[in-house]
Amino acid sequence: MDLQKEKLLTNLRNNKLTHQIISGLKDKKVLITGATGGIGSCLVQVFAKEGATLGIHYHRNEEQAKLLSRNIEIDGGRAECFQADLLSTNKLSLVQKFIERFGGIDILINNAGGILGFNDFLELDESDWTETHRLNVQAPFFLAQSAFAHMKKHGGGKIINISSIAAKYGGSSKSLHYGSAKAGLESITIGLARAGAPYNILVNAVQAGFIDTPLQQRLGGEKNLQERIDLIPLKRPGKPQDVAGTVVFLASAAGDFITSEIMTVAGGD
Ligand SMILES: NC(=O)c1ccc[n+]([C@@H]2O[C@H](COP(=O)([O-])OP(=O)(O)OC[C@H]3O[C@@H](n4cnc5c(N)ncnc54)[C@H](OP(=O)(O)O)[C@@H]3O)[C@@H](O)[C@H]2O)c1
Repeated sequence: MDLQKEKLLTNLRNNKLTHQIISGLKDKKVLITGATGGIGSCLVQVFAKEGATLGIHYHRNEEQAKLLSRNIEIDGGRAECFQADLLSTNKLSLVQKFIERFGGIDILINNAGGILGFNDFLELDESDWTETHRLNVQAPFFLAQSAFAHMKKHGGGKIINISSIAAKYGGSSKSLHYGSAKAGLESITIGLARAGAPYNILVNAVQAGFIDTPLQQRLGGEKNLQERIDLIPLKRPGKPQDVAGTVVFLASAAGDFITSEIMTVAGGD
């Protein structure tokens, strides 16, 4: 065999697939905030299927949190529920409680979020502005800060923030403040990714479009809903699974060379 051919074969051997595309999540310690909502519940189930150990964070919906954790335990997995109002200061202890319970944190998914005060911006009051920013950008930042400090000392980890295309378009006239908060979340994503790279802490955001969840059901009437769906190039609302697939991809070994990215999952929006 000539030298050139031998070199090619060696390269092929060295580059052969050593794992499945989605892999590396078994026994990973994953904390998901807002795990009781439409996207969060789906994330919990997808990560549980991959064998991850889960922190199911909830605010009010204890029933859903317990249902999710019971189902995981029945299937032989590990999960625990953590209650916290991310508008209050006890959010600071959420990551700490998760670490104490499971001995570490590999992946933080900042998914809890929403719009407080879905009102025309001309009528928006200061408390809705402040609370929307607290929930969608301040709380994720301080949760990430806490996780980052641990990951830095323990060989790295991943932080995935759930953003919205409202950050790209500025939201509607009733969700301008939400767009602003999610834009802040994306900025933090990029800043933390740069700060985390030397420590193998990978930070990305998934920018979701219109996803069919309780959040959208609360916001829109039937007519508005159809008008909004007609604007989506793929002509359908997204499903929680559409977002969960991208999150799991980033969290898995397939995402090990991706950081500082804002990945849009919005049917072309
Ligand atoms: N649905 C969409 O079209 C869409 C589009 C773009 C981005 N997103 C983003 O995707 C994420 C998930 O949204 P979703 O559609 O799944 O919403 P959802 O069904 O309304 O779920 C919201 C989750 O956030 C939690 N939460 C709300 N207020 C909280 C607070 N003060 N403290 C702690 N947790 C709180 C809720 O907890 P409890 O239920 O336990 O009270 C729930 O688990 C959010 O960040 C949202 O901004 C959604």
